[in-house]
Amino acid sequence: MVLRVAGSTKLDLEKQHPSDEVKRSVRSLRADTFARSWPLDEEIREIATAFPSHSFLANPSGQYAYIYLTRFVQAFSEKHFHHPFRDLTILDWGCGKGHVSKLIRALGPKRLDSCDIQSGASDSTFGQDVPIIQRYNIAVTPLKHEYFLPYEPETFDILLSFGVLEHVANQRSSLAEISRVLKPGGLFFCFFLPTRFSWTQQVSRWRGENYHDRLYTPASVRQLLHDGGLELIDIWYRQFLPKNSVRYPKFRLFEKLDLFITEKTPLRYLATNVEFISVKSPSNAAIDKSSQNLTFSGTPGGRV
Ligand SMILES: C[S@@+](CC[C@H](N)C(=O)[O-])C[C@H]1O[C@@H](n2cnc3c(N)ncnc32)[C@H](O)[C@@H]1O
Repeated sequence: MVLRVAGSTKLDLEKQHPSDEVKRSVRSLRADTFARSWPLDEEIREIATAFPSHSFLANPSGQYAYIYLTRFVQAFSEKHFHHPFRDLTILDWGCGKGHVSKLIRALGPKRLDSCDIQSGASDSTFGQDVPIIQRYNIAVTPLKHEYFLPYEPETFDILLSFGVLEHVANQRSSLAEISRVLKPGGLFFCFFLPTRFSWTQQVSRWRGENYHDRLYTPASVRQLLHDGGLELIDIWYRQFLPKNSVRYPKFRLFEKLDLFITEKTPLRYLATNVEFISVKSPSNAAIDKSSQNLTFSGTPGGRV
């Protein structure tokens, strides 16, 4: 199976590790997309202003990460699949307040499904006020099981986890489900995973807040994906400066400074998030890697 990753660079999963050229190409697309000046979503800002639980989306620095991450999903997916976004099917897993679904829908995919665990917890769609979901009639499928996803196998080109994987009860079973509902060659984007050595997580713990009881390192991510039929394409640290509760006078400038810190300096090891893109392996690779000597997952994309 040949995957095309970021532009015309081809990656043959049955023969090769991702070449340095592929890694460079993926990283450069990410850096360009993150650093670009994208417009904020003023409709989300307006709605969020009226709801204290949504205040981080009214704060430009808080909202901006969602803007460039969703733009990156579009840019990377179009290069990877060699298809426009309008041909691609997407699942926003654990969609919560629905702002990611709203932003992705505006980019015009062929199909967007949104789902969340049916729970009274204050972060679930079903346990909080959801003005964005209501205003834009976003249909949210309630998940009645902690990891089963009510979709046919190989339904989606893309599955998104914006701050979800770290909250699920059984992450290995959830990853197996993600793999099942992705098409072969489909992409799993995982954003906002909290990191083990993050200074902001430490401060939260000192203050007695334990929203994230599971923290990750690049090594633990690699270990997690290793048996799941998902192969790592790129992994990076993001967000050293706090964004949700701090208002920066020039948020785009501060974002660029932050990206510089997490890309180029050792302070990245103290960043809040580790994030990655992975791809669903060809089915035979997932079943029997050893017999075919497929070691792509052992030498994943970006080094962080
Ligand atoms: C931090 S919130 C993120 C919400 C949203 N994705 C966002 O970007 O704001 C965590 C989300 O994970 C969802 N969640 C927790 N356990 C889940 C599970 N087993 N399956 C699917 N979603 C789950 C929660 O209901 C909540 O919507």
